[in-house]
Amino acid sequence: MTAPLIRPRRLRVSAGVRSLVRETVLTARDLVYPLFVVPGVKVKTEIASLPGAYHFSVDLAVAAAREAYELGIPAVLVFGLPEYKDARGSSAWDAGSPVQQAIKAIKAALPELVVISDVCLCQYTDHGHCGLLTGQLVENDATLAVLAKVAVSHAAAGADMVAPSDMMDGRVAAIREALDMNDYQDVAVMSYAVKYASAYYGPFRDAADSAPQFGDRHSYQMDPANAREALKEAALDIDEGADLIIVKPALAYLDIVRSVKDNTRVPVAAYNVSGEYAMVKAAAANGWIDEQRTVLETLTGMKRAGADIIITYHALDAARWLK
Ligand code: PBG
Ligand code: ZN
Repeated sequence: MTAPLIRPRRLRVSAGVRSLVRETVLTARDLVYPLFVVPGVKVKTEIASLPGAYHFSVDLAVAAAREAYELGIPAVLVFGLPEYKDARGSSAWDAGSPVQQAIKAIKAALPELVVISDVCLCQYTDHGHCGLLTGQLVENDATLAVLAKVAVSHAAAGADMVAPSDMMDGRVAAIREALDMNDYQDVAVMSYAVKYASAYYGPFRDAADSAPQFGDRHSYQMDPANAREALKEAALDIDEGADLIIVKPALAYLDIVRSVKDNTRVPVAAYNVSGEYAMVKAAAANGWIDEQRTVLETLTGMKRAGADIIITYHALDAARWLK
């Protein structure tokens, strides 16, 4: 038996050597922290389906954003739960709604923190779909003007970036045009360009009270079986003016993150969604896995797959562990 000439283990012998040859380094600067904002004051209620995540009133959302900022996290992604819902989702563009108020308050308190806002209708419509309905049909083109109006209202509140998550065709162009017409040329569009119809959104829909009241989202979100279509969606949104794009979910779609990264020239974000988070939290609470190691391994995997940015409910914990 001859001794091996090449020994990969030589580069694993010590922490110092491993650190020297490490290819992927995760930092707090890679992360975006999602926040759920509700009406009221002094509200901080843990979300049952997302232990460790909270419903915050505007005042305490600012405190949470400050915590993220102080940990070196560069951005928050703000979701609002409105005071009222109707068929058209009109609370979505109400300047008095929690999300607009939170954007304004966070930017006033922490001007350097990047504030990204989720643009969709499902939290705001009484039917829970991401667009306007005609009968049971989610209307594409009629929804575009509404989404554009919502995006402009977020920009007016001070959002640095708007993130449309509805999956209507042509919405990036509609939003870009409306932002420009209202003098928000510097507000970026971070598009959920590649968003699959996923069971992993379950806990979020509880958290955001945004589950569809009938049917499902398969007529607008992507079929999990499709990979080529991801490149089509990414290219379309970039052509329409998206500055950054999101692939969502992340864990079951790391092949998509890699191929979107390799085939585009814009920053790519992976969204480590609610169901991915909830699974880790549940297993950790049962003592079945080591939460810290599992989370850091998962987030490193997303970065290794090509994600420039990772949106994750683990952001605060991960930033603390990475210190
Ligand atoms: C709203 C929206 C959803 C998520 C982000 N924005 C839910 C959905 O499309 O049903 C999912 C986030 C998560 O699961 O963490 N359109
Ligand atoms: Zn939606």
